[in-house]
Amino acid sequence: MPRSPTPAASAAPVAPGYYERHIFFCLNERKGGEDSCALHGAQQGFDHCKASVKAAGLSGAGKVRVNKAGCLDRCAGGPVAVVYPEAVWYTFVDQADIDEIVESHLKNGQVVERLVLPADVGR
Ligand code: FES
Repeated sequence: MPRSPTPAASAAPVAPGYYERHIFFCLNERKGGEDSCALHGAQQGFDHCKASVKAAGLSGAGKVRVNKAGCLDRCAGGPVAVVYPEAVWYTFVDQADIDEIVESHLKNGQVVERLVLPADVGR
């Protein structure tokens, strides 16, 4: 006999993808002196983004998730972060850049063109 869904399981999802937007920050650090995002302020950018998203009330189901990632294989542009579902790649320098990504893209869905990683930047 099939099990009937529980009330929670049958409730409508908060958003089709659970989060409206998801931003992943490469925090990779290579040993042996090889260049990597960790050497260019990746952790500080991640920490600031996480705090800013939370302070703006944007975090949680149906809203925004800020996640750590390993190497995203676009190290030459590091530090890098990518926002889904739009699949927009960013590079950033300081907290002001992160603030702009949070306010413009994560909150309002507007891409920050000046911070977009050029398409030909790879490893
Ligand atoms: S080390 Fe960050 S993308 Fe490779």
